[in-house]
Amino acid sequence: MSDTLSVKDNRTGKEYTLPITDGNLRAMDLRQIKVKPDEFGMMSYDPAYMNTACGQSKVSFLDGERGILRYRGYPIEELAENCTFLEVAYLLINGELPNETELREWVAQVNHHRLVHENVKKIMEGFHYDAHPMGMLTSTVAALSTFYPDAKNIKDADSRMLQVVRLLAKMPTIAAYAYRHSQGLPYAYPDNDLSYTENFMHMLWKRTEPKYSTNPVLARALDVLFILHADHEQNASTTTMRNVGSAQADPYASTAAACAALSGPLHGGANEEVLTMLAQIGSREHIPDYIKQVKEGRCKLMGFGHRVYKNYDPRARIIKRTAEEVFKVTGRNPKLDIAIELEKIALEDEYFIKRKLYPNVDFYSGIIYQAMGFKPEMFTVLFAIPRTAGWLAQWLEMLNDPEQKIARPRQVYAGHELRHTPAAMLEELTAGVR
Ligand code: SDX
Repeated sequence: MSDTLSVKDNRTGKEYTLPITDGNLRAMDLRQIKVKPDEFGMMSYDPAYMNTACGQSKVSFLDGERGILRYRGYPIEELAENCTFLEVAYLLINGELPNETELREWVAQVNHHRLVHENVKKIMEGFHYDAHPMGMLTSTVAALSTFYPDAKNIKDADSRMLQVVRLLAKMPTIAAYAYRHSQGLPYAYPDNDLSYTENFMHMLWKRTEPKYSTNPVLARALDVLFILHADHEQNASTTTMRNVGSAQADPYASTAAACAALSGPLHGGANEEVLTMLAQIGSREHIPDYIKQVKEGRCKLMGFGHRVYKNYDPRARIIKRTAEEVFKVTGRNPKLDIAIELEKIALEDEYFIKRKLYPNVDFYSGIIYQAMGFKPEMFTVLFAIPRTAGWLAQWLEMLNDPEQKIARPRQVYAGHELRHTPAAMLEELTAGVR
């Protein structure tokens, strides 16, 4: 037995032996399979990359069948229990958990870069009063590349790491500014006495009191939610980050592109859609009717289903537990009861069982965010902040991978064969007559 695949092309009778590496086939090994020697050669055809690995990664590991998620080998459950978000961000970026000194220096670096240039505020002032915060975040992150032209030097390791720290530090600031803009409130400058999530809450919710005091239960819950959202292998927004970064665009442009991908309702935008869905359902009595509409294909059960998880999303389980902690402080969000009943009914329904549809990370997160005082249009922004750590970890990994180059997939052409414009045809006809 050998790590090879023997294939016979029945169009020609030719046989090929293709090497198997880590249990997979290299798509480029298919190119030798041709009918005529001058052909381009065979490709793998895989719309939406359902079964295509875009590269090797050491950052996250998912087992969809068993509902397992690990960051750099550590189970998500342990990280959520024992770490802060900045510790996990360090782990994702550097590959190891920081020791005490490394963590202290890392926190100091991030704190140092929390401020944004005053002109960033002028950019944000240009948005309409009711601009969606995700649109403001995406645009403003892209604008950061004009403030840090040194970021274009993506080949310099020190410059890359400086941009990583700047982005991790400034995402909460820009997010908070977007929220304050939507509320018509003055911006609250970062407070370096506070932790990453406490400072974010301070910038969001400080009024005229001399010092904002965060509720430690809510700050910890937000930290856990940030940890759970930090990375998730090659999801749509991370793939976007890698693709844009592969063209050697600077990390601000790449992160803005990833934000744009995340904003889609099938991806990070789902947490906002879940709240809209729960509000539309209104009460537990209306759940059967909504489920009926879903099964008739008239709408989706937002927050359910996943390309990889065909079991319960481990993050959803932790979020559900965290919700109980938050509600002890904020009071119970009645939408949780509708969500729990919706989950119960769905998980007993053949339509969902057959399609292996379970709650994903977005199903319960919005309910917690709403109870904490966030408006639904901020929910995807709350996803983008921590996911920036994963996007950057994967961006660094892609740049350091000797196998990677500019991402440029092929296509199967399905359009017209050669044809000519009427003018050219007339020209040819008249030339023929002359
Ligand atoms: C995130 O990739 C990641 O890792 C993403 C993420 C991350 O951390 O980065 O985990 C975060 O984006 C979570 C997903 C959030 N999105 C939603 O909750 C939106 C609702 N979910 C669906 O749109 C869907 O489940 C996706 C987009 C998440 C996955 O879609 P797939 O893998 O392309 O699956 P599919 O659309 O081909 O569905 C297969 C079948 C279809 O039915 P049939 O055509 O076979 O009859 O399942 C059905 C779908 O109609 N289906 C659903 C459904 N999701 C899939 N039916 C009702 N409700 C749903 N939510």
